[in-house]
Amino acid sequence: MVSKKVFWAVMIGIVVFGVLAATRSIWQDPADQVWMKGMIKKLHVLPSEQNLAYDNACASCHMLYAPSMLPARSWQVLMGGLSDHFGDNAEVTDSIREEVSAYLQRNAADKVENTYAQPMLALLNNDETPLRISETKYFTLLHDVVKPAMIEGNSDVQSVARCEACHYEALEGRYNRFAVRIPNYYKQGTWRLMNPATTKGSE
Ligand code: HEC
Ligand code: HEC
Repeated sequence: MVSKKVFWAVMIGIVVFGVLAATRSIWQDPADQVWMKGMIKKLHVLPSEQNLAYDNACASCHMLYAPSMLPARSWQVLMGGLSDHFGDNAEVTDSIREEVSAYLQRNAADKVENTYAQPMLALLNNDETPLRISETKYFTLLHDVVKPAMIEGNSDVQSVARCEACHYEALEGRYNRFAVRIPNYYKQGTWRLMNPATTKGSE
């Protein structure tokens, strides 16, 4: 009799443990997941494959964004509307556009695996097609400490699209939170204005 009770207690214990282990990941804040993975392996988002056409077509106005920061459908729409690209004309020849578009889609968030792509996708609805990395929910979550004054009111940043202004290893595809400095602000627990006397804007 007793051994039967013990047997069932152990069985129930195993099942409960299994369910907890399997669902644990969805209980965690994706930002924490990235942080923890980053402790083991530095957050690195560049694809193994480089593309010269992407470099030539897209690096003249801003940094080259990592293809894995948006899903393939976003790149497809973005590359289909280059004549009106956030108010600019970024049009290229058909063959270059096709090459760059294929490259971006091949290395998009839903095609590769890295510590940024999966949590970003997990927070994106299937019917959403963000055209900006900076508009995705995951991005907003990661940047909750960044106040508007640190961007628009900050002459050394100006736009959130200038990742490299704060992430000084961004061009190498590294966005580790230990490699962040906001120009004109210093960090003490939270990001604060560096010198109120010489800097415009405040938190
Ligand atoms: C003629 C200048 C120009 C060229 C060339 C250009 N862009 Fe842009 N791009 C812009 C501007 C302007 C913005 C908006 C920046 C801002 O909000 O500060 C932008 C923003 C973006 C964003 C959104 C960034 C964010 O906020 O997350 C993506 C993605 C992007 N561009 C991709 C591309 C790709 C891919 C190419 C190459 C086909 C390209 N761009 C070429 C001017 C350009
Ligand atoms: C105004 C400065 C600023 C700009 C511009 C900026 N970031 Fe950040 N970013 C931060 C700060 C601050 C953090 C959070 C650091 C922390 O939590 O201590 C962060 C966090 C991140 C993280 C998470 C890092 C980690 O280890 O968990 C990623 C990924 C990231 N940013 C990507 C980007 C991308 C991509 C862009 C451009 C589209 C961008 N950021 C633009 C300041 C900035």
